[in-house]
Amino acid sequence: MIVLGIETSCDETAAAVIEAAPDGRWHTRANVVASQIAIHTEWGGVVPELASRQHVRDICGVVDRALADASLGWTDLDGVAVTEGPGLVGSLLVGVSFAKAAAWARGLPLVGVNHIAGHIESLWLAHGPLPLPAVVLVVSGGHTSLYLVPEAGVYRLLGRTRDDAAGEAYDKVAKLLGLGYPGGPLIDRLAERGRDDAVDLPVTRLTHPDRNAPDRDPTFDFSFSGIKTAVLRHVRQRQAALGVDTLPEPEIADVCASFQRVVVRTLLTRTFAAARAHGAGAVGVAGGVSANARLRRELESRGAASRLPVFVPPVSLATDNAAMIAAAGLRRFARGELAGDRLNAVPSLGLG
Ligand code: KG4
Ligand code: ZN
Repeated sequence: MIVLGIETSCDETAAAVIEAAPDGRWHTRANVVASQIAIHTEWGGVVPELASRQHVRDICGVVDRALADASLGWTDLDGVAVTEGPGLVGSLLVGVSFAKAAAWARGLPLVGVNHIAGHIESLWLAHGPLPLPAVVLVVSGGHTSLYLVPEAGVYRLLGRTRDDAAGEAYDKVAKLLGLGYPGGPLIDRLAERGRDDAVDLPVTRLTHPDRNAPDRDPTFDFSFSGIKTAVLRHVRQRQAALGVDTLPEPEIADVCASFQRVVVRTLLTRTFAAARAHGAGAVGVAGGVSANARLRRELESRGAASRLPVFVPPVSLATDNAAMIAAAGLRRFARGELAGDRLNAVPSLGLG
């Protein structure tokens, strides 16, 4: 089966073609991403209205390019998969409208895909079947959620952030340090030059149940707004003490390294605790923040120490892309979960 995937949930317009071979393995025939970073950098973050307008401009060209890269035409496709949520409503609507129109015009079956399920499936797309049950952390600019995957294509939510996503905290800390957007890769690079014990920053542990999910064990939830505020307070204090607007570069590197140490430790401590609690056979980390160098190193060493195989996607599948959406779509096609003509964008679509 050959599926066209379409992703427009935030600020990347993406299309990809994935083929499921008769032996069940997935092969990437094309994976095209038109990034809007240059547009949003000017504003220090994603501007939803600009994002949706740019998706409208880019979607046709991106899909044409994906088909050309795969050396395929519309008649070679067996289905279309599109992100239905979660995400920005205006952005999602562009992909959903395009996919519905294309599927209808070509008589192709259509499935709606949860963006977070796409991030989880990026691990299966990159590595083939993971040992099960697996515990997977999805960590990006919009999400920080921990899942148990008891069988392929089944996702059970174990915990999630109560406030900021980890990537969002990276972006906000980078902004207050005057580094630019997106902050993750910039902090990652600067942190390599700093001392990670230079600044004492708090680790937030949640002990009270989430009001929205009182039955869920709170120990696997996350919170990143406290550390962001602590960095802000530290930076303002140092700026006042030195009488400067911008801290000297070695101090900025120290802040980046200290922030990164606490964030990575928090993410991985909870992930491995969940893996132990659920007898996992593998640990995966997906989403934009999984591109982080320190996170990848610590994941390897913790995996080795716990004798658990660990998995991260390559960077091209870690940040938003449509290959992961086509892969998650293949799961839905296999189960016959087709979308009707009422498929719509669902900005706060949940998973598990
Ligand atoms: O998955 P993604 O492309 O979009 C969302 O679904 O949000 O993730 C983007 C996020 C941004 O917050 C960005 O700062 C972060 O991933 N990111 C990183 C790194 N590369 C991207 N964070 C930390 N270290 C990185 N190397
Ligand atoms: Zn994402």
